[in-house]
Amino acid sequence: MSTPFDTSAATIAPEERGPAYDPLASAVRDGLTATPKWLPAWLFYDDVGSYLFEQITELPEYYPTRTERAIFAANADSILEAALGGRAPGGTLRLLELGAGTATKTGILLAAAIRRQGLTQYLPIDVSEASLQEAERSLSQLLGAVEIVPQIANYVTDALAIPPHSGPTLALYIGSSIGNFAPDEAVAILRNLRAQLRPGDSLLLGTDLVKDERLLVAAYDDAQGVTAAFNLNMLERLNRDLGAHFDLSRFQHRALWNAGESRMEMHLESTVAQTVRVPGAGMVVQLWQGETIHTENSYKFTTESVRAMLAAAGFEPVQTWRDERGWFAVTLAAVTGQSRTQRSQRAQTAPI
Ligand code: AVI
Repeated sequence: MSTPFDTSAATIAPEERGPAYDPLASAVRDGLTATPKWLPAWLFYDDVGSYLFEQITELPEYYPTRTERAIFAANADSILEAALGGRAPGGTLRLLELGAGTATKTGILLAAAIRRQGLTQYLPIDVSEASLQEAERSLSQLLGAVEIVPQIANYVTDALAIPPHSGPTLALYIGSSIGNFAPDEAVAILRNLRAQLRPGDSLLLGTDLVKDERLLVAAYDDAQGVTAAFNLNMLERLNRDLGAHFDLSRFQHRALWNAGESRMEMHLESTVAQTVRVPGAGMVVQLWQGETIHTENSYKFTTESVRAMLAAAGFEPVQTWRDERGWFAVTLAAVTGQSRTQRSQRAQTAPI
């Protein structure tokens, strides 16, 4: 693509830099000096973005949340039965959840776990303390039967350190959150989890499936414009947190299906040639008319691609539940072989 001007970012003098010279600023510098430009999807989730995402999950076009919830509602007891694989009821089952967020769907599984096992432990893991507090609030009606042990951790960038547990663990990674990562990152996240699990533990993975392009595009470009607001809020966030000067009326939300990569993509398209100062990141960004900033990938899966991803991470599918339209899948997977932790523990304790 030809550009009418040099799009490399010019530097702003240190004395002009804002106070927020931090990981946010560095992510923004990396993404907006790249060709093509991009910004990481985690930037969506400030308070406003998290609120808008909750709104998205209620939209008529955004089927994943309600479809997965319906799968849980119809099958929670069978899921727990399959996960516990014939173990006698009793003992403390632990439900561990990656990226727990506000845990609204998890309550259905926890209630089924309580029905089957009685006392249950719930270990939600999330980077956001506010989300973990919200999760505790939304599960308050189950308190008494559930011991909640929240953990603030970034399971994407850091090795997990999950406390030992004597009973079985069912790990949850739901909502097709795995779809927001490139295939190699997705496998790395599942391996990070796998390293903490023992034989007999299992994983419940929610994945959005490939479907008609029109349904997919509508889910990411809804009629009310909530997803557009969610996407544009990323620039608004940079205005708030980095003192940037993005004029939102000069950008347009774009959602497109990339069939070759099997993913929905969201972009922000510059409707004019423009120069934008981002003092907190110490840079000036130049965009030409029609240039886009790539803000999100949302991979869509098939039975085979789910199986391949799980196998690469050391899991084996045991059972899959789908809705009747075949739009969303919830897969129970068993750990295969030994985890890295177990291997290294054995290596450390093996007699010489
Ligand atoms: C959080 N994640 C699974 C959502 C998705 O569908 O990829 C984020 C989202 N982006 C636009 N709409 C929803």
